[in-house]
Amino acid sequence: MSKKVILTGDRPTGKLHIGHYVGSLRRRVELQNSGLYEKIFVFEADAQALTDNIENPEKVRQNVIEVALDYLAVGLDPAKTTLFIQSQIPELCELSFYFMDLVSVSRLQRNPTVKTEIQMRGFSGESIPVGFFTYPISQAADITMFKATTVPVGEDQEPMLEQCREIVRRFNNIYGETLVEPNILLPENAACLRLPGTDGKAKMSKSLGNCIYLSDSADEVNRKVKTMYTDPEHLQVNDPGHLEGNTVFTYLDAFATDEQVSRLTTDYATLQEMKEHYTRGGLGDMKCKKLLMAVLQETLEPIRLRRAEYEKDIPAVYEILRKGCEVARAEACDTMDKVRRAMKINYFDDRALIEEQARRFQK
Ligand code: TRP
Repeated sequence: MSKKVILTGDRPTGKLHIGHYVGSLRRRVELQNSGLYEKIFVFEADAQALTDNIENPEKVRQNVIEVALDYLAVGLDPAKTTLFIQSQIPELCELSFYFMDLVSVSRLQRNPTVKTEIQMRGFSGESIPVGFFTYPISQAADITMFKATTVPVGEDQEPMLEQCREIVRRFNNIYGETLVEPNILLPENAACLRLPGTDGKAKMSKSLGNCIYLSDSADEVNRKVKTMYTDPEHLQVNDPGHLEGNTVFTYLDAFATDEQVSRLTTDYATLQEMKEHYTRGGLGDMKCKKLLMAVLQETLEPIRLRRAEYEKDIPAVYEILRKGCEVARAEACDTMDKVRRAMKINYFDDRALIEEQARRFQK
């Protein structure tokens, strides 16, 4: 059996919300506990976050601990998963530097993620910082440094993975089989790909104020659900309701099991039955929201409790990260030894080289 290694990470630019939970965190915990992977690395891409928060290092610094707490709260277990911080692994810079020889400017310009981000952030023409422009290269280093076979990420990261695979193939072609070509592992459930904001907008985002955070109190969650966007045409209870674009039902799809629906409501055995009643008319939004509140509390309460435990000892959380960085660095050093050997820049480790040169010059 070949050894499978998972690597994935997040930019620490804000606390994690329930969109992150259904989109990636829940799956990571399952993968961690599946026993199918030899090694699992989950890291905070703080250096990558700095590429577009150049003047806001404090924001990144504050969120490193928030995201670490969120990771631990959802059940990532430092005994099974190596949690680390990108900037603390200097070998990543080294590998990125060599990867830069293998990628052209036009290839980077064609990366769809880079393209849209350039537009979104309003960089015009060549004013884009080089570090930001080249972050797909640095991301390829993140992945290959840890010999990842499997990278669980959202669809938006597909171009990054493709670019990484190209770099690996090019490297192995030139320098010999050295690096592992990774596979993307996309979320299974289409409804979970991207959870909309509580206002029904396409995406949860801090600036829109439409997020439910993993660290929100029970009251905050209930308050946010109460004002959630539903179906603007569902004015009277008896009006037929629409499920499409109805945020309450999108969230129920993402979170509620039929077991919960039948236990937490008096009238329905499955979510499907409830949806049918809503579509027919006669089911009010508040009843649906009440169910969603109950379901969310069942999911979030254990997360909240675990977070509260870790919050009691913040130095211990930094210690978990520090130890994770040590483990990650050992792996990075091993990969860099192989890379340096392949690239013929391992001068001092290569006795044969030294002896050969000695002979050459003695003649
Ligand atoms: N680009 C990812 C994001 O914005 C974070 C990231 C950086 C990452 N390096 C990675 C994800 C390597 C997976 C593998 O969320």
